[in-house]
Amino acid sequence: MKFFVDTADLKEIQEMNALGILDGVTTNPSLMAKIGVQGRENVLNHYKTICEMVDGDISAEVISTDFEGMIREGEELAALHENIVVKVPMIKEGIKAIKYFTDKGIKTNCTLVFSVGQAILAAKAGATYLSPFLGRLDDVSTDGLSLIADICTVYDNYMFETEVLAASVRHPMHIIECAKIGADVVTCPASAIDKLFNHPLTDIGLQQFLADYKKVEG
Ligand code: G3P
Repeated sequence: MKFFVDTADLKEIQEMNALGILDGVTTNPSLMAKIGVQGRENVLNHYKTICEMVDGDISAEVISTDFEGMIREGEELAALHENIVVKVPMIKEGIKAIKYFTDKGIKTNCTLVFSVGQAILAAKAGATYLSPFLGRLDDVSTDGLSLIADICTVYDNYMFETEVLAASVRHPMHIIECAKIGADVVTCPASAIDKLFNHPLTDIGLQQFLADYKKVEG
């Protein structure tokens, strides 16, 4: 399973990358706004910086909602670095754009996916990644993990090459359940990855080993 970190914060990206287990980064306009990047030039430079920091796929989202605008933006983003993945919303124009990018050899991430039907459309268009938002489904009392499982089943049935990238992950159990289902990728906030480290028995055991070693040293 690939691990992406879902943030535009360079410090968080650096910290996760230093662990040596990071396979990529996903961003979105809300995450860019959160860290206060302003102006197109600065946004593009920010993506470039992330690409130079992490050796893996970096998702950068288009803002346009019409086909021509998405193509213009997506080509500009893809030209920044070979690891850029153009993130495109799951709308009709988006599906057309994904097909266009696929034919041009540009990687894509179809975002804002909330149903199996949408997942089929994105795979048919040749999306590199599909981002079902599981936490946001949980937020409206709908089982996000069931959607991930259903999409994995359908993609397996037809051997679609699109990778299932579980997004809107909120906590360690989301990550573990996605791994059990067989999602190809999880993109998580750094805090959720951090929490995977924690176990009280690890802490107690380490304290005991260190205390006992003091006796060995004398
Ligand atoms: O990758 C999509 C993700 O950023 C959305 O997460 O927590 O805003 O639903 P959230």
